[in-house]
Amino acid sequence: MHTTEVAAALKGAKHVAILTGSGISAESGVPTFRDAQTGLWSKFKPEDLATPEAFRRNPKLVWEWYAWRRELVTGAQPNAGHLALVELEQRVPEFTLITQNVDGLHQRAGSHNVIELHGNINRTKCFEEDIAVTEWKETGDSPPRCPRCGGRLRPDVVWFGESLRPEAIEGALMASRRCDVFLSVGTSTLVHPAASLPFEAAEGGAIVIEINTDTTPLTARAAFQLRGPAARVLPELLRAAWPE
Ligand code: OAD
Repeated sequence: MHTTEVAAALKGAKHVAILTGSGISAESGVPTFRDAQTGLWSKFKPEDLATPEAFRRNPKLVWEWYAWRRELVTGAQPNAGHLALVELEQRVPEFTLITQNVDGLHQRAGSHNVIELHGNINRTKCFEEDIAVTEWKETGDSPPRCPRCGGRLRPDVVWFGESLRPEAIEGALMASRRCDVFLSVGTSTLVHPAASLPFEAAEGGAIVIEINTDTTPLTARAAFQLRGPAARVLPELLRAAWPE
């Protein structure tokens, strides 16, 4: 299929930029963002919990939802898709991994140059002061309180309606415009500004490749689409480009 052509493009690339979404962590057992939630949480929509308004309205509910997700992520292991991207970083001259995922699985797999567009669920910050907090007293409050100002603590992730860190989005935009091959992996390409990155790459002349189990708004614009789970497609691609 397209694998041979995509493998040749990767092999010849000077700078590869990648955008990943929650689909790459699906085989690690972390549900994708828009997947039906399970168990206790099935009656809530993620879009209704991941907002500052939801936190103001019911901080305990939002904190506990993230605590549940943090536990899921802590118990999960990077999969063959994450590992293929670690290998790719070693194979190509310049490599930028941009992720919308907050699960930290790319870094746990061993990727180095990672831009976390939406933060990381394992970090915590103060809702009032917006500064990182690494230690606090467990007093039974849920969420716990900031040791400096007594404000509520929240996960250090970007919620709907919040801005991305300027250095993260600027770095991602620069890499997308400068790369010669761009891979979009396991993302629905719905949430902006991340969703604009593959289109910026295409504008800049990069070969854009989509790896997804389904179609997305990017599909028609991508030069190549590889259908299937990232944990299978990415290792296949690496082996096609660099056979042992
Ligand atoms: P979504 O849940 O929107 O999309 C997951 C995508 O992965 C879909 O396009 C699926 O078809 C695809 N997919 C599912 N399983 C896959 C697999 N095994 N291999 C490859 N693809 C697979 O998740 P995201 O695109 O990551 O932001 O969502 C983007 C952002 O929306 C999230 O980061 C989150 C939310 O707003 C914040 O929380 C700020």
